[in-house]
Amino acid sequence: MSGHNVWTHKGTFLLAAVGSAVGLGNLWRFPYLTGENGGGAFILIYALTIFAVGIPILIAETMLGRTSRRSPIMGMRHLTKTHRTSRAWESIGWLGAASAFLILSFYSVIAGWALHYTWLMLTGSLVGADAQTISDGFNALLASPRLMTMYHTLFIAGSALIVGMGIHKGIESGLRIMMPALFVILIVVLIYGIINGDVGAAASFLFTFNIGDLSLEGWLQAMGQSFFTLSLGMGAIMAYGAYMSSDASLTRTAIAVAFVDTAVAMVAGLAIFSLVFGAGLETGQGPGLMFVTLPLAFADMPFGALVGGVFFILVLGAALSSSISLIEPVAAFLVERFDMTRPQAVTIMVVAAWAMGLLTVVSFNVWAEGTIFHSLFGRSAFEFIELLTNIFMPLGGLMIALFAGWALTQSEVMKELGTHPTWFALWRFLVRFVGPAAVSFVFLRTIPQVEGYLIPTLGSLIIVAAFAIGQRLRHSNPS
Ligand code: TRP
Repeated sequence: MSGHNVWTHKGTFLLAAVGSAVGLGNLWRFPYLTGENGGGAFILIYALTIFAVGIPILIAETMLGRTSRRSPIMGMRHLTKTHRTSRAWESIGWLGAASAFLILSFYSVIAGWALHYTWLMLTGSLVGADAQTISDGFNALLASPRLMTMYHTLFIAGSALIVGMGIHKGIESGLRIMMPALFVILIVVLIYGIINGDVGAAASFLFTFNIGDLSLEGWLQAMGQSFFTLSLGMGAIMAYGAYMSSDASLTRTAIAVAFVDTAVAMVAGLAIFSLVFGAGLETGQGPGLMFVTLPLAFADMPFGALVGGVFFILVLGAALSSSISLIEPVAAFLVERFDMTRPQAVTIMVVAAWAMGLLTVVSFNVWAEGTIFHSLFGRSAFEFIELLTNIFMPLGGLMIALFAGWALTQSEVMKELGTHPTWFALWRFLVRFVGPAAVSFVFLRTIPQVEGYLIPTLGSLIIVAAFAIGQRLRHSNPS
């Protein structure tokens, strides 16, 4: 068992997975994407993808962690041996580690903005400010590499501290304090939004479905968001799954994670849009929704500075509980593979991701244009890193689905899942066909817009499909 231990309680995996899933994706990205894509129709596609694709892959990824009881890379290596599949599937672990590293690098920078706004709110600096002042303030933050680097450093160091203290003393104890506090704050902000804002307008914006409103781009973003928000396809869930109690139900836990994550996104959306509509502001502000529109709404409301401050503390906590799950898979790998101590492993991962994060910092100011990234890829370093993760995450999810559904010895998978044969058959149908089809659809529509990626991506898809078929033939009696 390579020294791997297990969470203290049967329910800790649920807590940890919710901590990973609920993050900037729910509080920052989901509301602004919904705002840009016209509301209800976007949410419909998002929810459908979560249920048909997200949950089955979430089950698969957790299962890979729990059966191997190792960090993602070592775990995949182990499974390819014990199930006698191609070694190439180990790339799932490497791809996951690469994505975790890339996501952490920019996630920490954006979480740093929330740190800045917590400070601004609690000191009352924005009380009564007008739209121009607030948007100038945000632009000034983006223009300052020094400020952004400072916040980025603080945030990533905080995350490193928690992971460095180990899965029990650090991650578990941290989550046990943070998560309940986050839910309380979320409810407080919702109630505040209902009292001071326009919850009717928010609800009809979020829950009125008109599928015709949705562009193809919106479809893709909804599906991409459902992967991002569940932390899928990159080993974070696998790493946490490795510590999951064998008594806990994989299927029920995964459904609970997806349910809570979706509920948090909806409540956050409801609260944020109540405030935005209540203040007569626009929904389609993009990434600035949380950092410009929302502070403006708080600026003129009773106790706005206090509630706004508390809201940004919520954002910070949610980001922190996610970022620790980005560090864990890589740190666990370094400990297992190179016999490092946990603090050493965490330091290596975090220092590297911190340095990489500087690329995101400068993408908003000194390197905003005219860099090698612009000439090669037509976008800033930050946008390029984001694009890479948007490719890696679904690709990882796709490979996890294929590996679990086709390559593994199915009788053992069935034992590990421990569900009724009907549910097992449903799950397997979803990971074998529906998931891969949905992800390929997202790829094929996104990638051609980015010249140069088409061939490698299609190539890897074909290689992966070939594996799947190869594995199928190898286990002549797969069920
Ligand atoms: N789910 C996180 C959020 O919604 C973001 C995320 C994506 C993530 N992949 C992850 C977090 C992997 C931790 C691990 O903010």
